[in-house]
Amino acid sequence: MGNKLIVGNIKMNMRFGEISNYLNQFKNVNNKNLVICPSYIYIPYFLNYNFSVGSQNVCSFDVGYTGEISARQLSSIGVKYVMVGHSERRIKLNESDIDINNKIRASLHAKMKVILCIGETLEEFKLLKKDSVIKRQIRDSLFNVSDLSNVIIAYEPVWAIGTNKVPSIEDITSTVIYIKQLVKQMYKQDIKVIYGGSINEKNIVNLNKIDILDGFLIGGASINPNQFLEIIEKIS
Ligand code: PGA
Repeated sequence: MGNKLIVGNIKMNMRFGEISNYLNQFKNVNNKNLVICPSYIYIPYFLNYNFSVGSQNVCSFDVGYTGEISARQLSSIGVKYVMVGHSERRIKLNESDIDINNKIRASLHAKMKVILCIGETLEEFKLLKKDSVIKRQIRDSLFNVSDLSNVIIAYEPVWAIGTNKVPSIEDITSTVIYIKQLVKQMYKQDIKVIYGGSINEKNIVNLNKIDILDGFLIGGASINPNQFLEIIEKIS
């Protein structure tokens, strides 16, 4: 088995009645590199399988926000990973780099692994601002975070999410190299970088050839168990 991390971001999909069928397809899966991120309300059903569970979000603080869920609570139920800074939250819910920084610190304090999502919009891409946006997102999201050993960066160009558009292998490779070098320069530490955006069972074959990548974040294609299992099989 390879060592690439495979993260499934189920987003707001699935009604309660669909959960058991989905999970049935995973009962024989034994993959320490697989992380599935369901909605909060379904998390308890996803525990106790041979994969890890991640949350799609977390509260920036430990107490005092009615309706929110803290990193300490997530960790106490057995959630190992937390996704932070997904572009849907940054853009549609106005989540700032300061919010994201607070979420990262709360999660690391609760001993969870953080998947920090970053990436440029189409407009930023066209204006050749990709590198500066990535730099700002990394610098501000990781402000005052001294140990990056439990942080993974997910590079997800916003224009590639749910659009069936994927950057070229060369573009992904050079961006991942840029991110790794930047983090090394800024923090004197190595960091794992995964790619996300319109991954499917066909394009994964070529994406999986990018040696420098440490894994993949899969949204839409993780909702259908057969499609997701095919992708997992091709990565592993
Ligand atoms: P997608 O989503 O795979 O459907 O493009 C990825 C994501 O939103 O993390």
